[in-house]
Amino acid sequence: MNFLKSFLILFSVALCTPKFYAQEKLPLIPYPQKVDFNEGFFKIPKDFKVNLDLPLREANKIFFAFNLFNKSKIIFKKGTKNSQISFGLLPPKLENRAKDYYEIKIYQSEIIISSESEEGRFNGINTLFQLINFYEKEGKIPCMEITDSPKFQWRGMHLDVARHFFTVDEVKKYIDYLAMYKFNTFHWHLTDDQGWRIEIKKYPKLTEIGAWRNGSMVGKYSDNTFDDKRYGGFYTQEQIKEVVKYAAERHITVVPEIEMPGHAVAAIASYPELGCTGKQIEVEKKWGVFEDVFCPKPETFTFLENVLAEVMPLFPSEYIHIGGDECPKENWKKCAHCQNLIKEKGLKDEHELQSYFIQKIEKFVNAHGKKIIGWDEILEGGLAPNAAVMSWRGTEGGIAAAQQKHFVVMSPGEFCYFDHYQNNPATEPIAFGGYTSAEKVYSFNPIPEKLKDDEKKYILGAQANLWSEYILDFKQVEYMIFPRMMALSEVLWGTNNDFNDFKLRFQKNAKTLDKLKVNYNKESINQPLKNPYK
Ligand code: ACM
Ligand code: ZN
Repeated sequence: MNFLKSFLILFSVALCTPKFYAQEKLPLIPYPQKVDFNEGFFKIPKDFKVNLDLPLREANKIFFAFNLFNKSKIIFKKGTKNSQISFGLLPPKLENRAKDYYEIKIYQSEIIISSESEEGRFNGINTLFQLINFYEKEGKIPCMEITDSPKFQWRGMHLDVARHFFTVDEVKKYIDYLAMYKFNTFHWHLTDDQGWRIEIKKYPKLTEIGAWRNGSMVGKYSDNTFDDKRYGGFYTQEQIKEVVKYAAERHITVVPEIEMPGHAVAAIASYPELGCTGKQIEVEKKWGVFEDVFCPKPETFTFLENVLAEVMPLFPSEYIHIGGDECPKENWKKCAHCQNLIKEKGLKDEHELQSYFIQKIEKFVNAHGKKIIGWDEILEGGLAPNAAVMSWRGTEGGIAAAQQKHFVVMSPGEFCYFDHYQNNPATEPIAFGGYTSAEKVYSFNPIPEKLKDDEKKYILGAQANLWSEYILDFKQVEYMIFPRMMALSEVLWGTNNDFNDFKLRFQKNAKTLDKLKVNYNKESINQPLKNPYK
């Protein structure tokens, strides 16, 4: 009797369940918030006709740039009759939904993407193109309804172009990768001790001298070995504009970072008067943290303000990253000007001097209609009034900033430093250190439990940082970000529920990566959460 009953129940469940894919997840990354399957299929035509009744310049750039579809072509034409993909405009701000919300309805005869904003439409097209890519071989997509929006507004990836330089085309490719996985922020680390990488017309020596070093560290840091090859490069302002425009077409904001007061050796090598000692120094060949930092004197502020005055108009971003990390105070302790300034301003110590430095820069940036964001050391000596904090030394800095009602981007080393190993160091190319497997990234929660409900809203999101000391070329960039950035994309979308399920979807996505010849780390996905290689 029991057997018969359960058989009947199973039988009737099977009858009532829509036939296809009802139990199976789509291979999408990041996974959408809600997917409802319906019966039937949309047959993928050879030529998709798309009615462009809304301006849609950006439409197919990501996936066509990569030539992902084998057979299908998408024809964008205004007023196309019998179009198979159309776009609907949703009334704004209904039910408090996010601005970048979208819906996709896949019927047997047509597909409708609806949104209230360009960002939403872009997300929808992105999801649909992933679906076409996956289902092209079968020639049909199951009918379904997707309703979707991201959990976090700052979905970032950082790239250090100072330790190793990447060309405009490589940076564009990086931006394409971000767009594929629905990141919306590119943090461009443009200046550091080992190279100044952005043309500043008022200070040509920054790129004549500061963009070049007479050698680099080779091998492990502990080997303390150098080559003597001149190494460097920089972006002209025209190239910067080109990258910013390219990113904007993919709904990605570029946040530039100009490091101060530390990590300034390349700038001081170009203009020695900016340091405390006035001594001529060389652009650094070694990795690390150095005592030559900007001296907070009037000439330095004039210099930095002139630099920022050229940088800010190039980047539409609301935020300018001013660094603020790892600033040794030795030179300030020995410098007569610095010590007088501490007395004159009634500051307690060099930490308050750093805070004075950042606050002065913040005033300038705010007066130009922008905000500053800095690494969590900018909390030391007192946070500048409107500054956002990027929490990298764990989440404590981010927690402290949110408690002070400042916006925060979480980027703790343990989960978000993609210069860490993701597999056994014995068999991997040299990396910075640490251990951050894809599963570790996937387990990240950017909102600390410790925060009260009304403090949680200050967490804008998170980002991964790619410091390039040990990343010699773009193939290695790919190796370090894939698949970890895919895991992070789902954390930021807020749909990171089950790593085993993510792993299955990754295997399907790996075929796309293979097709694109992406040099992804094939073992990261199988590595455990905790470091077994100690
Ligand atoms: C950092 O990793 N020094 C922000
Ligand atoms: Zn000084």
